[in-house]
Amino acid sequence: MPGLADAARGRILFGGDYNPEQWPEETWHEDVRLMKDARVNSVTVGVFSWSKLEPEPGAREFGWLDRLMDLLHDHGIGVVLATPTSAPPPWLGRLHPDTLPRTEDGRTEWWGGRQHFSHSSATYRRCAAAITEDLAARYGGHPALTMWHINNEYCTADYGDEAAAAFRRWLRRRYGTLDALNTAWGTAFWSQGYDTWDGILPPRLAHYLRNPAQVLDFRRFTSDMLLECYTAERDIVRRHTPHIPVTTNFMPLWFGQDAWRWAGEEDVVSVDLYPDPRDPLGAQSGALVQDMTRSQARGPWMLMEQAAGPVNWRGVNHPKPRGLNRLWSLQAVARGADAVCYFQWRQSRQGAEKFHSGMVGHAGERGRTFQEVKELGADLARIAPHVTGRHSRAGIAVLHDWHAWWAAAQEARPSREVDHADVLRAWHRALWQAHLTTDFAHPEHDLSAYRLVVVPQLYLLTDAAIENLLGWVRRGGTLVCGFLTGVADEDDRVRPGGMDARLRELFGIRTLHEWWPLEPGQTVDCEGFAGTLWSEELEADGAADETVPYRGGELDGLPAVLRRGRAWYLSTLPEPEALRDLLARIAAGAGVRPELDGLPAQVEAVRRGDLLFLLNHGREPVTVAVPGTHRDLLTETAVTDRITLGRYGVAVLRP
Ligand code: GLA
Repeated sequence: MPGLADAARGRILFGGDYNPEQWPEETWHEDVRLMKDARVNSVTVGVFSWSKLEPEPGAREFGWLDRLMDLLHDHGIGVVLATPTSAPPPWLGRLHPDTLPRTEDGRTEWWGGRQHFSHSSATYRRCAAAITEDLAARYGGHPALTMWHINNEYCTADYGDEAAAAFRRWLRRRYGTLDALNTAWGTAFWSQGYDTWDGILPPRLAHYLRNPAQVLDFRRFTSDMLLECYTAERDIVRRHTPHIPVTTNFMPLWFGQDAWRWAGEEDVVSVDLYPDPRDPLGAQSGALVQDMTRSQARGPWMLMEQAAGPVNWRGVNHPKPRGLNRLWSLQAVARGADAVCYFQWRQSRQGAEKFHSGMVGHAGERGRTFQEVKELGADLARIAPHVTGRHSRAGIAVLHDWHAWWAAAQEARPSREVDHADVLRAWHRALWQAHLTTDFAHPEHDLSAYRLVVVPQLYLLTDAAIENLLGWVRRGGTLVCGFLTGVADEDDRVRPGGMDARLRELFGIRTLHEWWPLEPGQTVDCEGFAGTLWSEELEADGAADETVPYRGGELDGLPAVLRRGRAWYLSTLPEPEALRDLLARIAAGAGVRPELDGLPAQVEAVRRGDLLFLLNHGREPVTVAVPGTHRDLLTETAVTDRITLGRYGVAVLRP
């Protein structure tokens, strides 16, 4: 299978989405001049070009794209060519209303924006396949083509009739019989027993709470349908160009796609990433997505889109202060990115994203944004020969599973305050603040490469996943689990005892009497720290080797934290510093230490192959002890024993 290396060819891909159809052709020449100036070597073309390529049903307007591809090739700029299928032209919806998705309350999502397509519509799929086929036939042999980019940020649901029929087919494949479906969905509750497949609907607007197993399956179905759309187009381009890698861009920690499964269908795993420049934890939220993407890619990955300056979709949209774009771009490279790209090359003057930054902003080539983009292009070119293709592996795996997230994100739970993604972020942040780099893994993955496995929260665990965790601990692994883990099976059926019996035994829990969720802002005293969000009335079985009790209140004296051998269970979310310190201690016990001792809080040290990236996320200069002699690849100077990093400064040290 081709991969990112085939497109990058020893370089770090640098560039962005390029939408030249928004500009007169004279501007294209200006564009390539500036691209060369900034060392841009890759642009993604055609993402939203469907109505330009097919202005009326069946027509083909390839002339402009021919000229563009030639122009880019003449200037040595590679093309990631997109299939334009995320933004169908108005004629498709007008002539074929069946291609338009319906919301859960039956409203139509009309054209006039983007992503107004139903994943289940046979007409949409036929038209998407036709334009994909013709693009692949026409440009498959073009020398500028380096990669295929299918659709864009797949993220839509559909509750309409065609989707309902597809849902029934999907359910038939999953369950075989109505009996099995009725059992899995627990339809004895509230008189929901189905006597015919035709009676089953997507979980549309209902008077009161919907069946959670139905909702869970609908989320699984939606992810699978979108995946079918992706693989259908992928297979077309692959047939024409088996040697050209294929990708589709994920949104960061996006709820709607089982990205483990999707990543397995991609040649290149790519992601879009937009931390808020004003967020003091922006660097950590970026790191989480980067760690997740690297783990999905199992090697180098592509930062498909980021913003050179402000986005336009937050309440208040802040630009990036000087140096932050470079810092966060190199943070991605440190974490395995071999491509650093943006949305978009040139900031639009019209349309819904005209206040979203581009690499070339409204201020043009003299603007600070473009000047910094140019500097970054030079930095990336300098380090590329030493960096590309190298993989960084962490000693810690954080487990994440979309099915557990989907099952947990339902109505009528013990607490609305508990959000799977927030809990995941809190645990990753604790590890990040302890200077520990982590991989992510699926709970059924082979974990043998790790020393410590961390489960922030997996409400739903399959039997296979539970056996995997038990086997991991039996074979000498250290495991730390957060609350609300192992509660439900894969049908969202609560396991007897409220938590899987095998896991209870593993941690030394005899009885889980009650969950005691906390109010927003409320804390619960534990010995040595405060717990947040949640607490549990647990009875230990006497086999625990270590417990940290709750202090005061209803749970006084009961265990907040239990350890039995190498298995830890946390029945609350310790406040951030306490979680950081506890995880650092457990990691050290498992033989996992930060890359450097004594790192200042705002400095991140990440290893990629034999390179050590040092990233100063602070606005103040800082001196870092780096014992020994190294070469900083960015400044091409020798570094002995210590290095000073300026505001947002970065060093890439080679032994
Ligand atoms: C994503 C999309 C782009 C654009 C940007 C805006 O990256 O793929 O088309 O909408 O968001 O931030």
